[in-house]
Amino acid sequence: MKFLFLILFTVVNTNAVFSQTTPETFETKYCSGCHAIDKKMVGPAMRDVATRYENRVDAVDYLVQKLNKGSVGVWGKVAMPANESLTEADAKILAEWILKLK
Ligand code: HEC
Repeated sequence: MKFLFLILFTVVNTNAVFSQTTPETFETKYCSGCHAIDKKMVGPAMRDVATRYENRVDAVDYLVQKLNKGSVGVWGKVAMPANESLTEADAKILAEWILKLK
C-alpha cells in the first residue's frame, strides 16, 4: 500500500513539473519575442490569456485557430501575425500549456 502511494505520488509529481515546462516552440517559433508568461509585452501575458479563457469550453480549439491565423482587437490594437510555420499539433501543445498556466 505504501509502495503504491509512492508510485502515485511520483506520477502526479512528474505531471505537475511537466505542465510547467515551457514548450520548445515557445522559443523556436518566436512567441517569446512578443509574449512573456507573467508580464505584458507586445502581446498579453500568457497567464492573463489563461485567466480570460478559463471557463471557455472550446478554449483549446479557439486558441489553436488564433495561433495559426493571427489575432487583432481582442487585447488591443496591436495584431498578432499568423504563425504560419506552426503546425496544428504544435499549436495544440502551446494552447494546452497556456491554458494550464493561471
Ligand atoms: C509579433 C508579435 C507576436 C508574436 C511573434 C506572437 N504573438 Fe501572440 N499575440 C500578439 C499580440 C499583439 C496579441 C494580441 C492580439 C489581439 O488583441 O487580438 C497576441 C495574442 C495572443 C494570444 C491570445 C489570443 C486571444 O484571442 O485572446 C495567444 C494565446 C498568443 N498570442 C500566443 C502566442 C504564441 C503561442 C505565439 C508563438 C507561436 C505567439 N503568440 C506569437 C503578438 C505576438
